[in-house]
This record gives sequence, C-alpha cells and structure tokens, in this order.
Amino acid sequence: MTRRSDIGTAVIGSGFIGTVHTEALRRIGVRVVGLLESSPELGSRRAAELGLPMAYASLDELLDDDAVQVVHVTSPNELHHPQVKRILTAGRHVVCEKPLAMTSTESAELVALAAASGLVDAVNFNIRFYPLNQHAASLVRGGGLGDVRLVTGRYFQDWLLYDTDWNWRLEADQGGVLRAVGDIGSHWLDLTSFVTGRRVEAVMADLTTFIPVRRKPTAPVLTFSTERATDTIPVEIHTEDVATILLRFEGGARGSVAISQLSPGRKNSLAYQVDGSASAVAWDSEQPDQLWIGHRDRPNELLLRNPALMNAAGVAAARLPGGHVEGFADTFGAVFTAIYDDVVAGAPSPDRRYATFADGHDEMLVGDAVLESSRTGRWVEVARP
Ligand SMILES: NC(=O)c1ccc[n+]([C@@H]2O[C@H](COP(=O)([O-])OP(=O)(O)OC[C@H]3O[C@@H](n4cnc5c(N)ncnc54)[C@H](O)[C@@H]3O)[C@@H](O)[C@H]2O)c1
Repeated sequence: MTRRSDIGTAVIGSGFIGTVHTEALRRIGVRVVGLLESSPELGSRRAAELGLPMAYASLDELLDDDAVQVVHVTSPNELHHPQVKRILTAGRHVVCEKPLAMTSTESAELVALAAASGLVDAVNFNIRFYPLNQHAASLVRGGGLGDVRLVTGRYFQDWLLYDTDWNWRLEADQGGVLRAVGDIGSHWLDLTSFVTGRRVEAVMADLTTFIPVRRKPTAPVLTFSTERATDTIPVEIHTEDVATILLRFEGGARGSVAISQLSPGRKNSLAYQVDGSASAVAWDSEQPDQLWIGHRDRPNELLLRNPALMNAAGVAAARLPGGHVEGFADTFGAVFTAIYDDVVAGAPSPDRRYATFADGHDEMLVGDAVLESSRTGRWVEVARP
C-alpha cells in the first residue's frame, strides 16, 4: 500500500510561498526531493538553505526524475500555464498556486488537460483550510444559518501603499491584468463560494489605480519587502490598487466586497460575514481561531477553534488542541493532507474540499466579468458554458 512518505515531490519556485509549501510538505511526511529556481545558481543556494537534496537545472531535468510524482508550482503567475501544461503532459500530479493562469483561455485548457489525464489537480486556495472555515462551510451548506441572503466583506493589505513599494505582481505581463482582485480578491471569492456552496453569477465592479506611476527598483525585491531602493525608474501602472464589487450569488444571495492593497495598518485581513434567514457567521484572517456566530433571539457565540467543539470538517483540518493558535502556514498542512490523500489513492476523489483546476478556472471567469464590468460600467454575468 502506498503511503504519504512514499511520495516524492518537487517544488518550482522557492520565494515567499514556495518556502511555505516545502515546510508544510515535510510536516505532513511527504519527501521533497528537489526544487527548480529561475537559475541553477539560485536553485543550488536555495536548496542548501532549505536542506533539500537536489536543485534541478531545468524543468526537463525535473520531469526526467522518476522520483518526482507531484509538482508544486509556486513561480510567478505568468509561468503557471506553461509549466503546468508540461507537468501534466509528463504524467505528474500538480498543485498550482493561484491564479491558475493568466487568462481564462489558458485555465480552460488546463482544466481539459487535467481531466483527460486522470491526475490529481489542485489550486492552492489554502484559506478554505483554516479549521473554522471548514467548520463554517459545513454549517452553512448544511442549512445551519437558514437561507443564505447576504455575503459581505473585504480583503485588505497595506504592503503596496507607497509609490516606492514594488513587486512583479504590479506589472500586468507578469501578474495578470487584474492585480488586487487576482492576487487577493480571488481568495475572498473562492472562500465565500466554498463556505456558502454558491458560485458568483454576476458582478458590478469598480477598479481604481490610485498610484499610476511607481518607482521600480533596478535590482530585484522580495515579496512583502518594505525596504526602500535607492536606484529606481518610474513605471506606469495599469493594474488596480483597489476594487469595490457588488455580487449576485447562485440561489439569489447578494453580496459586496472591497479589496485593497493600500489600506494602512491592515497587513492581511480577509474578512467575511454570511447572513442567513436564521443566523450569521463572520471570520477574519487576522484572528483566525475565532468564528463569530450571530443570532437574533439569543446571545451571539464566539467559537474558538477547538477540535472538541467543531464539526467533522473543522476537526479534519485542525492540528493542535484549542487555545494553541493555528495560522496561515498551518492551512498548507491541512490542504496538502486532503490533496495527498488523493495522490496516495492515485486519482482525484469525487467530492473534493480542496480547490480543483475547475475551481481555479471558475475564478478566472469571475475575474473576466469583473474586468468587463469595470470597463463598461454595468452589471456583467459570469460567462459559464
Ligand atoms: N496561496 C497563497 O496564500 C499565496 C500567497 C503568496 C503567493 N501566492 C502565489 O504564489 C506564487 C508565487 O508568489 P510569491 O509571493 O512566492 O512570489 P516570490 O516572488 O516571493 O517567489 C517566486 C519564486 O519563483 C522563482 N522563479 C521565477 N522564475 C522562475 C522560473 N522560470 N522557474 C522557477 N522558479 C522561478 C523566483 O526566483 C522566486 O523564488 C504566485 O502565483 C502567487 O500568486 C499564493
């Protein structure tokens, strides 16, 4: 019988999130056999720093290695589609970072390729796997709030507040035409669709670029870096800093979300509230061990993450006893555990709680509607076949 420790995995990219992937894989007992970086030199340095046995010189070399059964793609967005395509064609399971691709045409192609391959396909919308979001999803989808009516919230960060803040995500050819919406809004949209069990049907979106020219450092900078470079060149920015979006969900629920990478003091606050006809739930990623449950006729509840008090889905995602706070990096262990159950079985299971390529593609279609709505100034339906 195959076990998780029999599986060999390679990681592409070892920046902010590739490092989190590597650490989480090791924590759940998967063997990380090597990594691929943008150059062999950087790869060797990062492999030594992370204690990995191998730095591949190219994707071809990685895919020639029979020890690799799964590949995690944590490179910048523009590389996801070409790399995933080659990985699937070489017969390996794939875990791809969000967004799945740069366009919905590309993501549709990857959905079809993955389906034809029979391999496990996952997009890393890890925020689903905070234990209390798993608990909330089972609660809401099981009718625990009554009929879902209103879904509201925000995703705010401040790391791009100044014109001296720089990252590859700012440029459309590397990050995609949508930036705040594609980079962080996609997490909110995926999460609220997951929790409610309802997809977004139509949007009315307003996108704003408050900083139209930024000072790009002439040397590379790390994601979330707040250091000021001295050597810079002015670059026009065409991707949005801020988005406000009205939403219509399947089943008639309404919603609204504000997304910003310029909100001073908000480091990484994804917050949502789902109001039903009987009760409500609310959660904020800056206090991830607390789920607020609102009632009209009795006192409200504050559920602290605790395997002894959550439903089965919440318990399955939890690692630690109540009172021992679980955070961002822990969600990677939880989502990878679910994904690697399928890898061990050799194929995707029927009712997957982790985001699939189909979910990643659906997010791209919602993004297309957001873009069209902001350009035309009207409601746009999400174009699903
Ligand atoms: N799920 C999440 O919560 C989450 C959080 C952050 C980032 N992400 C996603 O992860 C991806 C990476 O983001 P990041 O913040 O880690 O960026 P980053 O810039 O910190 O890291 C990207 C890494 O990819 C490497 N790279 C560049 N070109 C490469 C190539 N041709 N081959 C191999 N490696 C290459 C870079 O050298 C760097 O180490 C993005 O798609 C982003 O949207 C997801």
